[in-house]
Amino acid sequence: MEYNRRKFISFIGKAGLGGVIMPQFLINCGNTTTPTSGFSTISKERLHELKKLVLEDLVPSDEDDLLLVNGLDYHTIIKWGDEISDTDTFGFNNDFTCFIPFDDNNPKDGLLWVNHEYVNPLFVSDFNRGDYDNPSEHRTIAQVDKEMYNVGGSIVRIKEENGRWKMVKNDSHNRRITAKTPIQINWDTPIKGKTTLIGTHSNCSGGITPWKTFLTCEENYDSFYGETEYDEANVPSHRPSSEGWEKFYNYPPEHYGWVIEVNPKDGTAQKHIALGRFAHECCTLYELEDKRVVAYTGDDKNNEHLYKFISSKPSSLKEGTLYVADTINGKWLALDWENQPILKNRFKDQTEVLIRAREAAKLLGATELNRPEDIEIDPITGNIFVTLTNNISKDDFHGSILKIEEDNLAFDALTFKASTYKAGGEANGFSCPDNLAFDLSGNLWMTSDISGSSMNREDKPYMPFKNNSLFVIPRYGKDSGKVIRVASAPKDAEFTGPWFSPDGKTLFLSVQHPGEQTKDLNNPTSKWPFDEDNIPKPAVVAITGDLIEKMNTLNQIEPNIN
Ligand code: FEO
Ligand code: CA
Ligand code: CA
Repeated sequence: MEYNRRKFISFIGKAGLGGVIMPQFLINCGNTTTPTSGFSTISKERLHELKKLVLEDLVPSDEDDLLLVNGLDYHTIIKWGDEISDTDTFGFNNDFTCFIPFDDNNPKDGLLWVNHEYVNPLFVSDFNRGDYDNPSEHRTIAQVDKEMYNVGGSIVRIKEENGRWKMVKNDSHNRRITAKTPIQINWDTPIKGKTTLIGTHSNCSGGITPWKTFLTCEENYDSFYGETEYDEANVPSHRPSSEGWEKFYNYPPEHYGWVIEVNPKDGTAQKHIALGRFAHECCTLYELEDKRVVAYTGDDKNNEHLYKFISSKPSSLKEGTLYVADTINGKWLALDWENQPILKNRFKDQTEVLIRAREAAKLLGATELNRPEDIEIDPITGNIFVTLTNNISKDDFHGSILKIEEDNLAFDALTFKASTYKAGGEANGFSCPDNLAFDLSGNLWMTSDISGSSMNREDKPYMPFKNNSLFVIPRYGKDSGKVIRVASAPKDAEFTGPWFSPDGKTLFLSVQHPGEQTKDLNNPTSKWPFDEDNIPKPAVVAITGDLIEKMNTLNQIEPNIN
């Protein structure tokens, strides 16, 4: 910690000299702000280039295509249903992506993790909700089994040759993790009697560990097995799910809503109970100098909370304390059963506090937020950015980006300052911010998530924004701080999972739920990616081109000194 704090302070002290701090593991592992060795001070020529870069702003569009500004290009790497091996296929609704190269010296060959968040039964299991008043009553077990296969995650080897990324079919690393894969817990007390839980689903965003494993987060888990709810007298009852899987598989809701770590090499996975149970959007780690880790994670639901876990042992996601944010008073509040009498009154032990983290957070007085989603650490200032997508129940239609500044720039501080970095709305040209990624130069890339049912509708406040998009907020030059639209998604789709390749030249990006509003397979609302099947398919694309290379060049970066 001291090391990092000193580095931050020394950076601030000589900002004008162009020093840059970057957590070493982010550099090595290929986090959003990735890769290889270190950074050097920017040359005057490079600074000049960055400052004079003029970015076009794409006009909002409702066209059914993936549109890009001049200077960007894309190709599809893998799409739903593609065979990754002789026995497995790529799952549905790809979200978070994370690329880890086999060799730090070769950024063009490695393993791509992709989340498969949920399914659209119309496409996946030939089940049309629209045919029934009470759809969850009518699914068959065969349909549910197909859906269970199509969620979770994929590991695929990908390679770049001649500027194009391709999946290596049948590579020995290629595998699926599904809603039926047995997964151990990293905890000493069983969860509802089990230490091995069945499967994962609702995998939204994720993260990477300093020891180069993937993190995948279970978000809207209650859609599949429902939720256990407690009344004033602490008596539990089961709230049914919307999808009705619990009618066929009697797995307790408490087995889901966790952060899961996956070993890229063999696909083994573990659920990290210490990070709490809620609708985890993502999990963003920072490694302190003594190798303890800090994990930030948000609960993407109206009026839920922002959390951080601080480990007490090196490289542990088990030993440590989970905190929740009071953003009004700038305090991290410990979800610690032993030392918080109010938690002792309500819950029987620490395991129950973690399972019912939302209730525990509210008892401690945590601040309700407007759907905290992705979290990224600014590689230049060390500030933490959290997207708050929206909260229609509180008339926040367009969301905002929250900035957290930990006191003394220490990631294990228990006090901080919170402020709004940027508000959504017409003035800033974006609405409903979701995923974030910093590039190597410290430019901030952002995707939007206007819901498919509200997009492009005259009676909703989202009309001016049209299709969901990818934006960049440049750090330099005359456009510094502006929100610039650089890609527009196909109809009904959302861009998710932005992740830069280790050389900074490719942005991996998921196109999730194109054609989501389709009611009739013969007349889909989107046909992207325009393959021979004539139906929309979620897919992962590689965004490349001159513009990315100009904005995001290794070893030539300079901090925002304005
Ligand atoms: Fe799955 Fe919060 O987006
Ligand atoms: Ca998301
Ligand atoms: Ca979202």
